[in-house]
Amino acid sequence: MVERTYDDNTVIIFDTTLRDGEQSPGATLSSAEKLEIARQLSRLGVDVIEAGFPAASPDDLRAVQRIASEVGTADGPKIAGLARAVESDIRTAWQGVKAAAKPRIHTFLGTSPSHLAMLRINKEEGLNRIRSAVTLAKSLCDDVEFSPMDAGRTDTEYLVQACAAAVECGATTLNIPDTVGYVMPAEWADTLEMLINETPGAGPGSGVIWSVHCHNDLGLATANTLAGLTRGVRQVEVTVNGIGERAGNTSLEEVVMAIHTRKSFYNLRTNIDSAQIMKTSRMVRNYMGMPVQPNKAIVGANAFAHESGIHQDGVLKNALTFEIMQPEDIGLSQSKLVLGKLSGRHALRVRLRELGYEVDGDELMDVFRRFKELADRKKTVTDADLEALVADEAAHKPEDHFRLIDIQVVCGTMGMPTATVKLANQDGDESIVSAVGTGPVDASYRAIDKIVQAPNELLEFNMHAVTEGIDALGEVTVRISPEGSNRTFGGYGADSDVVVSSVKAYVAALNRMISSGSFGESAAKRAVATVGIASS
Ligand code: KIV
Ligand code: ZN
Repeated sequence: MVERTYDDNTVIIFDTTLRDGEQSPGATLSSAEKLEIARQLSRLGVDVIEAGFPAASPDDLRAVQRIASEVGTADGPKIAGLARAVESDIRTAWQGVKAAAKPRIHTFLGTSPSHLAMLRINKEEGLNRIRSAVTLAKSLCDDVEFSPMDAGRTDTEYLVQACAAAVECGATTLNIPDTVGYVMPAEWADTLEMLINETPGAGPGSGVIWSVHCHNDLGLATANTLAGLTRGVRQVEVTVNGIGERAGNTSLEEVVMAIHTRKSFYNLRTNIDSAQIMKTSRMVRNYMGMPVQPNKAIVGANAFAHESGIHQDGVLKNALTFEIMQPEDIGLSQSKLVLGKLSGRHALRVRLRELGYEVDGDELMDVFRRFKELADRKKTVTDADLEALVADEAAHKPEDHFRLIDIQVVCGTMGMPTATVKLANQDGDESIVSAVGTGPVDASYRAIDKIVQAPNELLEFNMHAVTEGIDALGEVTVRISPEGSNRTFGGYGADSDVVVSSVKAYVAALNRMISSGSFGESAAKRAVATVGIASS
């Protein structure tokens, strides 16, 4: 367990992966996955977890409640719930977070001309809405955060009035969002400094914490966030892998590693255990089915890879020649699992626990069976392999609408690629269907489509090897969109057979799409009814 300590130089890490990050196209998570990610965020050492937007749906509320009661312990992070400046939202947010030892209500109102126009209110009415919202939130919860949404395009005089109104009514954190990723680092730093010095009741020594929340539309989210830290901001709102609406939010790992690596420049600290970064990144990538670009700073596959001869030579002689951080700093170890195929479940469980996974019961049996199969085929089973197996097990549950039972493909340069797929539905009824396609994956997806009958478009398909070597596990993430909708759903699969990983990823995405109900009830019923009677 991370020990969180605070002084004037501590930067509070407010993680919004489960709220703003989950608003990324296709990043839908089940509540079990949200809980797992929240547990990992706690191990990572974030100070605040924004667990969701409880008023968005009963499912969101339940997920926030579970995180509040199971992760929001006295020695754990604060748990925040987002609420518009609307009475029902604020009351629902309180229902979401109140079981946490350290709950927070985060309420917001758009303050830029276009946001006020959208709300059909003038500036004075905006201030009144802020006062009522913060007063209500404060009557329920001691810890209240207020955000003037689209602050980046709000005139500074009105921003000061909005922040002053919020503080007067009890807000203890003022978060300044660049909602559309519009601002430039130098001007943003000036705006934040001006706000800190000129907002009545919120200046240095007032106890109010100033926060920034940036979006990455111009690729400046990290730069804008760091610019704020040089002028007195002490909370940053970030997401793992920088996921979020459109081009995403500020990336947690980039800000944290900038603070840690350039200690002499910032003279600041965080409570983050940076050795947990890579694991958290992989977990978010796998559960959300959202690949990380290879050249992504800190957590991209190439972030520590050296290709040119000169670089390789330099790094071999002294890693610091071309590296400003060590791979171990972010938990990117080359450690090989010393368990062999004769190792028992207990040893596996201990290793998984060391890696931060609590795996028990049937789940442990499943991971163990797959570990044995892998150890039979692969010389060394790495921690990354184990993490992929755990992620794959988490992505495919017995209660899913459809489960892959078997798959067989025939492909090559002769004849037509053909796949035969056996799926089971929630009741255990099985269907076997064959289809031909342009390749083994296409044929498999066509066979699955015949069973599931949930028309969709495949928007993205990504495959990569977990480790180097011909015997590596292959990971696949896919993104699909139901016909006639612009919602998207991601899926993940890992197996040493890449066709199997591809099929698992597609089935996981279809399960998400069906659970969301977003491809039409009649199609969902047809899909379920088809199972058991589909012809081959
Ligand atoms: O981007 C934004 O303005 C937000 C607020 C709700 C803080 O996400
Ligand atoms: Zn945002």
